Amino acid sequence: MNGLEGKVAVVTGASRGIGESSARALDALGAQVVLTGRTVADLERVAGDLGNNPVVVPADLAQAGAGTDLAKRILEVVQGVDVLVNNAGIPMRRLPESITEEEIDLVFAVNVRSLLTLSIGLAGSMKSRGGGSIINVSSVAGVRGPGARVAYAGTKGAVDAMTRALASDWGPDGIRVNSIAPGLIATAIWEESRNTIPGLIEDMEGQIALKRWGYGDDIADVVAFFASDSSRYVTGETLVVDGGLARVSASAAPQVLPELLE
Ligand SMILES: NC(=O)c1ccc[n+]([C@@H]2O[C@H](COP(=O)([O-])OP(=O)(O)OC[C@H]3O[C@@H](n4cnc5c(N)ncnc54)[C@H](OP(=O)(O)O)[C@@H]3O)[C@@H](O)[C@H]2O)c1
Repeated sequence: MNGLEGKVAVVTGASRGIGESSARALDALGAQVVLTGRTVADLERVAGDLGNNPVVVPADLAQAGAGTDLAKRILEVVQGVDVLVNNAGIPMRRLPESITEEEIDLVFAVNVRSLLTLSIGLAGSMKSRGGGSIINVSSVAGVRGPGARVAYAGTKGAVDAMTRALASDWGPDGIRVNSIAPGLIATAIWEESRNTIPGLIEDMEGQIALKRWGYGDDIADVVAFFASDSSRYVTGETLVVDGGLARVSASAAPQVLPELLE
């Protein structure tokens, strides 16, 4: 994998989970990392381990105008931006009949609106530096149609659609835009479901071909690939990184229909 020495990489939701792992991976490749999120103590904890002059710029991406404002504040503290990892996101597990308008607005504000406005706010800097790489973290929820997650799935499908549209808009400027659709990754995002839905975790694990949950590093290594020049001819793509969940049968054929193999 090519290095990222001399590059500046912004990671949203860098205070824990996939964002934390991504910040560590990009730093290890030599990038200066800008870490953002709401919880300053956690951002500083992660930044404290990084070696390339990391910068913490806090933001609440649920607020109107937050993406645009964050882009401005980032460009006040670094020379420019080459890589943007739009990772911050919130879950929303609700039946369609019980979700409120406020909840729909909230999940779209964080997962979609701020992702787009931050990207727009930083694209000018990438263009002036000859191009860049935007990596959006979507979800298998946007690919496979999960139950009781209609608004969340909608946000992630929107992220994949915007990935392709922005790749078209900014390709001539040398900006590549790709998304990663993680499967089940063991992070805090699952805490509520783990506690409130007995057996959910075990049931979902049984649906994964590789028979294990993913970890932050499983996604961060793919983030590093998209950030680096190794993926220089890839844009507008969504890479599902899920151990074989969304599009792979988790059961070997003989267990399902042995007569078909005779
Ligand atoms: N874990 C999975 O199984 C999985 C699967 C598919 C997709 N994903 C996606 O992967 C991304 C990261 O998820 P994760 O599992 O690492 O979740 P996580 O551990 O809950 O981390 C979420 C991150 O987003 C930040 N964030 C949340 N609300 C924010 C807000 N209003 N403003 C700014 N930052 C905010 C959090 O920081 P603060 O709380 O400090 O603000 C935190 O750093 C999300 O987009 C998620 O949808 C996760």
